[in-house]
Amino acid sequence: MESYKPNDFWETSHSTVASSGVDRGIGVRHVGGGQSNLEAEALYRLRRLNVPPTPKIFELGSGGGYWVNFFRRLEPKLFVGSDLSKTAVQRLSELYPDYEFVTMTPPEEAWSRIQGRGPYDLTLAIDVLYHVTDDKIWEYSLNQLCTNTAVPGLLLIADYFYEQPVDQPSKIHIKHRKMQSYLDVLDKHDFKVEAIQPIFYFLNRIVDGPWRDHSKLMSPILRFLTARSIGLEFLRSLDAVLTAYSRPMNPRSKTRFLLARRTADG
Ligand SMILES: C[S@@+](CC[C@H](N)C(=O)[O-])C[C@H]1O[C@@H](n2cnc3c(N)ncnc32)[C@H](O)[C@@H]1O
Repeated sequence: MESYKPNDFWETSHSTVASSGVDRGIGVRHVGGGQSNLEAEALYRLRRLNVPPTPKIFELGSGGGYWVNFFRRLEPKLFVGSDLSKTAVQRLSELYPDYEFVTMTPPEEAWSRIQGRGPYDLTLAIDVLYHVTDDKIWEYSLNQLCTNTAVPGLLLIADYFYEQPVDQPSKIHIKHRKMQSYLDVLDKHDFKVEAIQPIFYFLNRIVDGPWRDHSKLMSPILRFLTARSIGLEFLRSLDAVLTAYSRPMNPRSKTRFLLARRTADG
């Protein structure tokens, strides 16, 4: 297996799927998550959130456009999306001609273009920052997200927020970091955390191999259920109730939304 090269990896993930199969990212593996389109759809439906209407929005890593489509309902004054993959940017630009999409290479040029349209009432990085395995680029990207958020705007991140060993770090397209690493950067920009919401309990967890999250008994049951639409719907509903009401936290629900408000210009 070759080492992880983010540009190539993400461009291949997007460009090997026909435009007709993208379906807001659900049809692009690695983007929506899950082993099937059905599972990706169930995972997306759990990433629910509430935001104020008509914000000026910037999204890092728009992928297949699930959140572009979601926020469209709120009629944003301005929506600037982005991705590392040229194919993703090209497709989204065609689909949403009234919005802007930026290819994130070279990064300095891309961020300066994004900054030129900001600051934003809402900045988003949903399932993106754990794909930035290089620590310097990760910190740079998070700092940029912070500086491009208006005072008193919101930053919304969905991530794993859980440090976990990775057996082949040079080859794998993920790096999970603890929440404190994120908070340390946010603190420099005077952000105050407003909400932390667990997203999944049974779904989107490793069900196979030595790193699996579940017991030997539970894993095959989950594999059986996630492979069937009725089973997936059952688990999705269960996760929706569990994450909303019992709010399971570390390490059972590693995936969370983190919503923070910028309180001052740092
Ligand atoms: C798991 S997908 C999530 C896409 C979208 N946010 C969603 O939730 O549907 C991650 C996306 O981030 C993009 N990506 C990876 N590294 C990136 C980076 N450094 N800057 C911008 N986008 C990146 C990938 O091309 C991919 O489309």
